[in-house]
Amino acid sequence: MTDRAEIGDAVLYHGNCLEILPTLPKVDAVVTDPPFGVGNFVQTTGRIMGRGANAGRAVRWNDAAPPPELFALLREKSLHRIIWGANFFNCFEARGGAIVWDKCQSMPNFSKADIASCTHFQKTEMVRIPWTNFTVTHEAETDHPCERPVRLYEWCITYLPTTGSVLDPYMGSGSCGVAATNLGRKFIGIEIERRYFDIACERIDAAYRQRRLFA
Ligand SMILES: C[S@@+](CC[C@H](N)C(=O)[O-])C[C@H]1O[C@@H](n2cnc3c(N)ncnc32)[C@H](O)[C@@H]1O
Repeated sequence: MTDRAEIGDAVLYHGNCLEILPTLPKVDAVVTDPPFGVGNFVQTTGRIMGRGANAGRAVRWNDAAPPPELFALLREKSLHRIIWGANFFNCFEARGGAIVWDKCQSMPNFSKADIASCTHFQKTEMVRIPWTNFTVTHEAETDHPCERPVRLYEWCITYLPTTGSVLDPYMGSGSCGVAATNLGRKFIGIEIERRYFDIACERIDAAYRQRRLFA
């Protein structure tokens, strides 16, 4: 079943993006962070830890990596794309470049940097954004195990060659939607897990109210 919520300029769907995407009109840009598909690793080592109410506990979540047809669908539905986890999916495109988010971590671990394929940079162009561009320590706002900083998404959206609509088909806790709302962009989000969908609705609603307050 698909639920739909409208908040300001955002339309949010609770459901499977592989089923919902074919029903949507074309957007200007996709900015997204699909599951990397490291589920086995997580279950055997418990290395993905919850936050907030789940702090200190390993959490299970919907970590199946997207199938190859997802990337074809995203190409059909958008003009520009920034897709995190590009080194896991090898979803680099013929003419695109890359964004590297350097988390500036001194200790060895499995996620020192994240790489996004980016269609509006040239093939040989790689832009490095150090963590310190956002906040020295990112205080998570939700218990989503993969919540990303809103400022990372604000950076991505600001540097798109368009001021049009932004789609995140793997919305999670809604950080991309909060960033789009803060920047006054139209946003479409899809999330398969009900509790993360509800968290995303709450955060995007709060961002919308905040923007209205100062409009
Ligand atoms: C890596 S997380 C995204 C985290 C997000 N960037 C944030 O800041 O909270 C990927 C999300 O995709 C969701 N997901 C997995 N498969 C999906 C599908 N087929 N359709 C829609 N959402 C899906 C997962 O439940 C998870 O919340």
